[in-house]
Amino acid sequence: MRKKVSIVGAGNVGATAAHWIASKELADVVLIDIVEGVPQGKGLDLLEAMPIEKRDSHVLGTNDYAHTANSDIVIITAGIPRKPGMSRDDLLNTNYKIMQDVVGKVVANSPNAILIVVSNPLDAMAQAAFRISKFNRERVIGMAGVLDSARFRTFIAEELKVSVENVTAFVLGGHGDTMVPLARYSTVAGIPITELMDKATLDRIVQRTRDGGAEIVKYLKTGSAYYAPSSAATEMAEAILKDKKKILPCAAYLQGEYGIKGLFVGVPCKLGARGLEQIIEIKLSNEEQAALKKSADAVQELVKVIGA
Ligand code: NAI
Ligand code: 2OP
Repeated sequence: MRKKVSIVGAGNVGATAAHWIASKELADVVLIDIVEGVPQGKGLDLLEAMPIEKRDSHVLGTNDYAHTANSDIVIITAGIPRKPGMSRDDLLNTNYKIMQDVVGKVVANSPNAILIVVSNPLDAMAQAAFRISKFNRERVIGMAGVLDSARFRTFIAEELKVSVENVTAFVLGGHGDTMVPLARYSTVAGIPITELMDKATLDRIVQRTRDGGAEIVKYLKTGSAYYAPSSAATEMAEAILKDKKKILPCAAYLQGEYGIKGLFVGVPCKLGARGLEQIIEIKLSNEEQAALKKSADAVQELVKVIGA
């Protein structure tokens, strides 16, 4: 039987994730939104592309959670995106209310699903989904690190004029201004980037990575990034659907790892059929550990506001 992925929120990120998933034939896709007509129209349009793409993924757009029943994975993108001048944190209260609406319905229809949370502010929304769903931590994972690392990788590849395939990079911490791009663990064909560029260049790239979301918002004006974010969520879904045991930076509920307890923060995670199968604890320098703590403290502040 084919796998089933439901995507809540048929906006930019949700619809584009549906596109990536169907065009890679990873699963059948249900696209659900509160707005009537939009998921139906986008779903049908995507379904009609399948003969051209030579893919048999079925795509359905709906407003009815019954259609999401027994999903293997539910990707939650419902919420409002950033507008110019808005921080991810400005979205907190509105998106928390949306999360409260959505997660209960998702869980009632797909009690065994794995949730991939995308809505911002990411770490706090993942924590909200975790609390509301009452799922174990293996089945609630937040998407941010794959995106932030992809941005870091893009800028490294452009700077060094090498293939993006050669570049591995890790960004840990919360998905916000305090995120922690780990230069020491970022390599080009196995060579640490610290050997390949001077500190000023590296600092510039690190800052551009931290500002990566805002850079796109500034161009788009009416919304935020969605191609790379939906691609990142799709990579996580693929790792789970294919039980790849892939190590990716994801927001996970920490229970003492990295000295952080009871909080979602971005760390290296192994994703497989059971969802979050392992948190990989890498050795951090004192400076990196302090930066991660600062980032976790920023997440904690938000979580406190919504009481999650
Ligand atoms: P969008 O506005 O294009 O789409 C959001 C969709 O959610 C809309 O279609 C809206 O009707 C729907 N929605 C709102 N309330 C709903 C509800 N109660 N039930 C079902 N659907 C509902 O926004 P976009 O660009 O797709 O972004 C979605 C979210 O993802 C935003 O919160 C954004 O900040 C976040 N995001 C997170 C990233 C990350 O790295 N974690 C990256 C990019 C976006
Ligand atoms: C991003 O990083 C807005 O969180 C979103 O593009």
